[in-house]
Amino acid sequence: MRVLITGGAGYIGSHVVKALGEKGYEVLTIDNLSKGHEEAVLYGEVKRIDLSDRESIRDVLRAFKPEAVMHFAAFIEVRESVLYPLKYYKNNTVNSLILLEEMIYAGINRFIFSSTAAVYGNPVSVPISESESIKPINPYGQSKAFVERILEDFSKSYGLRYVSLRYFNAAGAEPEGKIGESHNPETHLIPLVLKTAKGEIEHIKIFGTDYETPDGTCIRDYIHVDDLSKAHILALEYLLSGGKSNVFNCGYGHGYSVREIIDTAKKVTGVDFPVVESERRPGDPAILVADSSKLKKTLGWIPEFDDIEYIIRTAWNWELNKRF
Ligand code: UFG
Repeated sequence: MRVLITGGAGYIGSHVVKALGEKGYEVLTIDNLSKGHEEAVLYGEVKRIDLSDRESIRDVLRAFKPEAVMHFAAFIEVRESVLYPLKYYKNNTVNSLILLEEMIYAGINRFIFSSTAAVYGNPVSVPISESESIKPINPYGQSKAFVERILEDFSKSYGLRYVSLRYFNAAGAEPEGKIGESHNPETHLIPLVLKTAKGEIEHIKIFGTDYETPDGTCIRDYIHVDDLSKAHILALEYLLSGGKSNVFNCGYGHGYSVREIIDTAKKVTGVDFPVVESERRPGDPAILVADSSKLKKTLGWIPEFDDIEYIIRTAWNWELNKRF
């Protein structure tokens, strides 16, 4: 069974490549390596291709003949998307359209899409279910919401079957320390906290302490990247066995505040690093927690690593031994 992975050299993509490889799938990664790391791809070949390069996409699809495509390649920084929306609409929306169009021409009709909780904007009810309205509040979320809309229409008209996985906060690393999160620049809370523990950063800033949450800091639903990978495998099996197009939230259904993450990181690392209270970061909703009952019920997803200490321990193990 062949699976084409875009963005397989990135953080989540590389963990899914590993999970697919271990299960015996034949994988091929295409990645422009602008953010990803070739060393992160533990199974199959990596072809350096940009998704805007339609001819190369066409050639790869026709030569490799994948049974399904998993599409991770995207820009992911909310703040950057506000400054440079064109960059996000081009890479995340237009390039997805190119990929989908070439898939249709090549007769490949199974697609797994990396979507995001950012499509919900400021949700009305928490935990967030898939029926919550799609109201992104930044170009990043909008660039993904556009693709979801395109998928809905293509599914009706072209026989494409897709699963859109709306990720909450992916975190942690596979436990052997072979791969992990390595963004440049890093903007995510857990890796930044751990870099502070390591002494690479002077202090960690808490962005906002006046939110309407028990300790005043934002709450997020941190999901271990290996549990997220498992959701991809289940989504693939679902499409291969004839499942209809569908959308699933990926999270554990409960969250941790920024202060709780910092306290857990101090415990796991044994380092009492400096913390500075700072202004709110624009565009941060107070609480983002998934209702993931649909993922559990429909795909049979059973989380294995719903343990914030484990998540931070695996991220710390990677941070101390990282290869890229
Ligand atoms: N935070 C800090 N200090 C930091 C970094 C982050 O206090 O130095 C806070 C943020 O304000 C936020 C929380 O930690 O409240 C988590 O922030 P992250 O940047 O780690 O993650 P986000 O929740 O902002 O973003 C994640 C994904 C995005 C996705 C978004 C959905 O990384 O791709 O969820 O809202 F868009």
